Amino acid sequence: MASFVETLNEQIGHEFGASQQYVAIAVYYDSENLPQLAAHFYRQAVEERNHAMMMIQYLLDADQQVSIPGTEAPRTSFGDAVAPVSLALEQEKRVTDQIVELVKLAREEGELVGEQFLHWFLQEQREEVASMTELLAVVERGKGNLLQVEEHVARTSGGENPLEAGAPPAAGGAL
Ligand SMILES: [Fe+2]
Ligand SMILES: [Fe+2]
Repeated sequence: MASFVETLNEQIGHEFGASQQYVAIAVYYDSENLPQLAAHFYRQAVEERNHAMMMIQYLLDADQQVSIPGTEAPRTSFGDAVAPVSLALEQEKRVTDQIVELVKLAREEGELVGEQFLHWFLQEQREEVASMTELLAVVERGKGNLLQVEEHVARTSGGENPLEAGAPPAAGGAL
């Protein structure tokens, strides 16, 4: 079975993969002339990149090996404006499962410092699944009038995320 450190190295790839997927979603919305949805996902892409860099900093601090993994190609074409958000929600749920598995591994190996590091990610996943679930409902409801969705996103996004204050340090500094 893979160790905690090996699995955390793999997770770096999942976070960079999530970042790439969010860039692809942002580009889709940009090309559909939906700038608020695009901006929302460009910001999410930076957050995911920061998550990867936090994991890298953790491994550096723990004097463990860091090997930067490659990522799977993101999905770049979507049937309608709802599809990217449902893909994003699936992705956030999958990452939640991955973080939970990492916490279990840390516990099994007695890596309590590593487990504590991951607690922030559990909170972050709770927040991201909740906000993506809400956005999916908004896009579903507004798919006949996407300008309403744009107004909603403009009103509700860009607020300070209270979790940012307690975020773990990121290698090279968070963007
Ligand atoms: Fe993430
Ligand atoms: Fe996320």
